[in-house]
Amino acid sequence: MPAAALLPDPQRDVNEMPSRVPPPPLVPLSTLLPAEPLLLMGAGPVPIPHAVARANGVVINHLGETMDKVIAAVKAMSRYAFQTNAEKVLGVGGPASGAMEMAMASFVWPGRKVLCLKSGTFSGRLGEMALGLGGTVKFLEPEVATPVSAQAVADAFARERFDVVTIAQGETSCGLLNVELPQIAAIAREHGAIVVVDAVVTLSTMPMRMDEWGIDAAVTGGQKGLSSIPGVSLIAFSDRAWKVVGERPSPRSHWCFDAERAWRFWGYQQYHYTAPVPGILALHEALRLICDETLERRFERHRVSSEALQRGIEAMGLSLFVPRSHRLNSVVAITIPKGVDGARVRKTMSTQYNVEISGAFGLDVVRIGQMGEQCRSHNLFKVLYAMGMAFRKEGVKLDVAAGMAALEEALSGESESVG
Ligand SMILES: Cc1ncc(COP(=O)(O)O)c(C=O)c1O
Repeated sequence: MPAAALLPDPQRDVNEMPSRVPPPPLVPLSTLLPAEPLLLMGAGPVPIPHAVARANGVVINHLGETMDKVIAAVKAMSRYAFQTNAEKVLGVGGPASGAMEMAMASFVWPGRKVLCLKSGTFSGRLGEMALGLGGTVKFLEPEVATPVSAQAVADAFARERFDVVTIAQGETSCGLLNVELPQIAAIAREHGAIVVVDAVVTLSTMPMRMDEWGIDAAVTGGQKGLSSIPGVSLIAFSDRAWKVVGERPSPRSHWCFDAERAWRFWGYQQYHYTAPVPGILALHEALRLICDETLERRFERHRVSSEALQRGIEAMGLSLFVPRSHRLNSVVAITIPKGVDGARVRKTMSTQYNVEISGAFGLDVVRIGQMGEQCRSHNLFKVLYAMGMAFRKEGVKLDVAAGMAALEEALSGESESVG
């Protein structure tokens, strides 16, 4: 066939011409989703409160008076969540990794030296980003499930100079809490380095005192402790860090994740890109609920809920992956007994009990989230029972009743804090 025969005929009305790619068979969303939504008890996303879901269904103009007021409120409430008085608090249209990328693009360029404290997948990601930005990166990587020690950081600085230090307060991939974060931040600051903290799994679930600990940039995502939707994240910069933001060489590596461009919208209500309005409204509601509950009560709810769950898991006969002294409360990693297929356990939990938990990044663990709305007593009973029964189905000898009783005992008298 001559090539001209394939070209549109300009004489014919384009509307009459059939599309060359036909529509696919229609698949209603209702046929894809389970009849009853699964209870999300994994490492995120987490269930969201009704107020957050409602806000997420609203679209308003991303520029204008109403949005200005929303943004002012989101910034004020975020400062409370991060425990900072810094001016530069911004939302990020994107996953928590987008906020991490904004942090790294703000401080790293060729010639800059980065000390990446790598406790697992997510803290390692900050180092990968730094490499991509042309920085020189030193990875300090303790044994798995072992926190980074302040001494190791002091030793690293004794050997060489670093411009930036990165750390995850909580490493979700293995359920580890970096207990020496305040001391590590102090050492880095003493040496004039910028301190970047991934608080994705910890913010609003346990203390994270940005100003008091001397943190320069802290990031979080919506889908974890905040119990908001995934895809809209937060970042806060100290005043000292913001000066470095202004010193970066041009042209800048990132456009969407350029902090100064983003501040046009978050600081001056001017266009940067079309902001993810429903997600910002959802974040507003999530933060409002946190301010209403107060951080102190929220931390206590997370502590009580997670410790009760951990007691139940152990009483059933399973082991926890990380020792108590540096175990994260917001994501609990459970060791899979030898010879058991963790994926089959999770499959049974979701198909038979309608509860979903997470696998891991190459480790022999399954992980239960304890963030935001997950920390409610009815969710704890459901997930513990489902997990116990699913492991039993795989031949693991567990005393599920003993686990449930231990959970009940740990929670008794705590119903007010856990709800
Ligand atoms: C500690 C930590 N940092 C970063 C991320 C990345 O978040 P996102 O998937 O929203 O980019 C996660 C996600 O699980 C996380 O747990």
